[in-house]
Amino acid sequence: MKSEILETSISAHTLKIDNDRLHQSIAELAAIGALPEGGIRRLAFSHEDIKARDIVRQRMLAAGMSTTVDTAGNLIGHYPGYYTEAPALATGSHLDSVPAGGIYDGTYGVLAGLEVVQTLFDNNIRLAHPVEVIVFTDEESTMIGSKAMSGQAPLDTDSYAGAAIQTHLSRVGGSWENLLSARRNTHDFAAFVELHIEQGPVLEAAGNPIGLVTGIVGQRRYLITIDGRASHAGTTPMAMRQDALVAASQVALAVHHIGHTKDNIISGDQVATVGSLELKPSVANTIPGRAEMTVDMRDLSNDCLDRMVEMLEAAIDKIAIATQTRIQVQPKLRNEPAPVNSHIHSTIATVCSALGLETHSLPSRASHDAQNMASITDMGMIFVPSQCGLSHSSAEYTSPEHCAQGANVLLHTLIQLDRHYRCRWETAALQEAAG
Ligand code: HGY
Ligand code: MN
Ligand code: MN
Repeated sequence: MKSEILETSISAHTLKIDNDRLHQSIAELAAIGALPEGGIRRLAFSHEDIKARDIVRQRMLAAGMSTTVDTAGNLIGHYPGYYTEAPALATGSHLDSVPAGGIYDGTYGVLAGLEVVQTLFDNNIRLAHPVEVIVFTDEESTMIGSKAMSGQAPLDTDSYAGAAIQTHLSRVGGSWENLLSARRNTHDFAAFVELHIEQGPVLEAAGNPIGLVTGIVGQRRYLITIDGRASHAGTTPMAMRQDALVAASQVALAVHHIGHTKDNIISGDQVATVGSLELKPSVANTIPGRAEMTVDMRDLSNDCLDRMVEMLEAAIDKIAIATQTRIQVQPKLRNEPAPVNSHIHSTIATVCSALGLETHSLPSRASHDAQNMASITDMGMIFVPSQCGLSHSSAEYTSPEHCAQGANVLLHTLIQLDRHYRCRWETAALQEAAG
């Protein structure tokens, strides 16, 4: 068995994933939480999320993996390596979606990882390292799965649709009381590589099938609560109003301005978004007394994000005085910018050239579980194109050909990394044995 494991020069041209099986898997999962108008609603901890996890768990077992669920609800498939105690080569993503999401966001990375292990299993190949495929919990709002696995406390415990993490974790096999035991350490992993759709327009415009991700943006997400005074829309003179919506509108314009700012600290590539706004009461003949809105700001540089937050806070102070409202800012999510590991980046590039695939290097302007995993292990990311750059929408689409190409790149990237990290790991093991 050993000769087959360590000596096989697995050629990029002989070992390939099963395109049809991957395509069928994507279609099967697309039905879980399917919306009548297209796309999916598969919120974390929902029945649909649980059902999708069960399907993936069955597929993990069929691919020769053992499965566990950690206290953060992460579903972990483990494909043994020849060296059972070696750190894991891990991949994975998420199965939960935004309320009206697409069928590829997250799910593609999970199913491609599953397909990679199924291909190894079918060909009776064991790598030196164990391979893990991880389904992270609630990537779309709190990122509790990858934050807990990387030892980061969540800022936010309210998932989409108001699911409180404290009570909902157990629905997917997790445990809020024992969350800390989900933490994995640096020595548990050799590397983590996430395959994901780009969710933007760059690869399609460049005409290249594979994105070599150079880094993942940091994110600062806030819930802003504005309290004015609800009163009669007809009898309240304009000068006497404390209109929460007027204040919220000025905050939204300030966020828009911050998104368009460029100076010696702010790159001009940053983004800033007000994605939700709720009024209370929300009726025609009453001045809104309360407004709740979210602000999502992203950039590759923490200095730039710090500057954007400063600008937001300064604007809010002025708006509160001008509108005589009380404005509270509650941090909801903070992700650190994460550069990819340079060796993994170059390994992906080498694999793509061996497969004859054109590549394009780009940052990820979306957040991913990989950026939390980057705090405990070497991280890399592979993108495939999104048609018209659309995502978080029923129009999200990536062709079967691009899906298969991405999965083959993941397969051979893990095989190459297995060789790279094996040498490093074995040398350390030999030095230890020699005393
Ligand atoms: O928000 C994001 O970038 C990711 O889709 N959760
Ligand atoms: Mn995603
Ligand atoms: Mn997403």
